[in-house]
Amino acid sequence: MPAIVTEQVCRDFGPVRALDRLTIEVPSGIVFGFLGPNGAGKTTTIRILLGLLEPTKGRAVVLGHDTRTEADRIRRQSGALLEHSGLYERLTAEDNLLFCARAHGLPGKDARARIESLLTGIGLWDRRREVVGGWSRGMKHKLAVARALLPRPALVFLDEPTAGLDPLAAASLREDLADLVAREGVTVFLTTHNLAEAENLCSQVAVIREGRLVAVGSPDDLRERRSGSRIEVRGRGLDEGVVANLTARPEVVRALLEEDTLHVELTDAHTTVAHIVKALVMAGVEIEEVRRERASLEEVFVALMEENGS
Ligand SMILES: Nc1ncnc2c1ncn2[C@@H]1O[C@H](COP(=O)(O)OP(=O)(O)OP(=O)(O)O)[C@@H](O)[C@H]1O
Ligand SMILES: [Mg+2]
Repeated sequence: MPAIVTEQVCRDFGPVRALDRLTIEVPSGIVFGFLGPNGAGKTTTIRILLGLLEPTKGRAVVLGHDTRTEADRIRRQSGALLEHSGLYERLTAEDNLLFCARAHGLPGKDARARIESLLTGIGLWDRRREVVGGWSRGMKHKLAVARALLPRPALVFLDEPTAGLDPLAAASLREDLADLVAREGVTVFLTTHNLAEAENLCSQVAVIREGRLVAVGSPDDLRERRSGSRIEVRGRGLDEGVVANLTARPEVVRALLEEDTLHVELTDAHTTVAHIVKALVMAGVEIEEVRRERASLEEVFVALMEENGS
């Protein structure tokens, strides 16, 4: 059973259509990245999936439960870190977690063992007796993630968990997350503006823009779909004459020479590189290396935003 299924979900806020026929499926046991620019509808989607907001049209099923009628069951089985951490600033870290454990009906002994393991995992066990109000943002973030994982949820929603963290804290939170996912087999639904992070953590991503799905697949799939169309050639004898010659070919969109490296953009990913290589050899180029250029997820994201602009 997939962890999350949405069917043609729409959500309007007055005249604003925040979500437009969103259909996605999130398999169980993976980190799923939900990407999109500011205002794309990511947080709205999470709120709908948790049953905190009703869809205007369509439906969503989370862990087998309909979000309209069984939100309490969904919330009992999932953890969430939303835009505000929701920690009790006047309580200690330990008491924050104990409070959450009680709310989920975790027996005391279990809860204590679980809290020790989670706090140790994020390096905050020694500081458990400190009041959270005095903690740095990064420490609070980590605690909020630990709290989301405390009741051993089947599913965790993390809305920008590394936003505002320093690079070290973000990297360590990512490590902790990957570790917890591997150990506990939870499904993570994650939003982030950090595309390197998404590439690193997520086995699947969906990209939305203005409430509409524009791409879905593994980060590698998405990169591959773009990368195939660009190649890089290094060698001797590359000059502007060669560039002009290549540019005249129908399968070449553009060619650009940078020192001893020639960048060639092809009309599509399936164009065979052999023709290009042959043309270069015929022009007297001594080729040292030919390789396909890999687009980063960030480049793919930017291209998707440009293509799907309104
Ligand atoms: N409670 C609300 N009332 C009115 N409009 C809302 C409300 N919640 C969201 N919206 C609108 O819905 C759209 C999507 O907002 P949402 O918060 O889901 O975006 P997001 O993808 O999470 O953006 P960000 O990356 O900035 O967090 C925006 O146009 C926003 O103004
Ligand atoms: Mg948001």
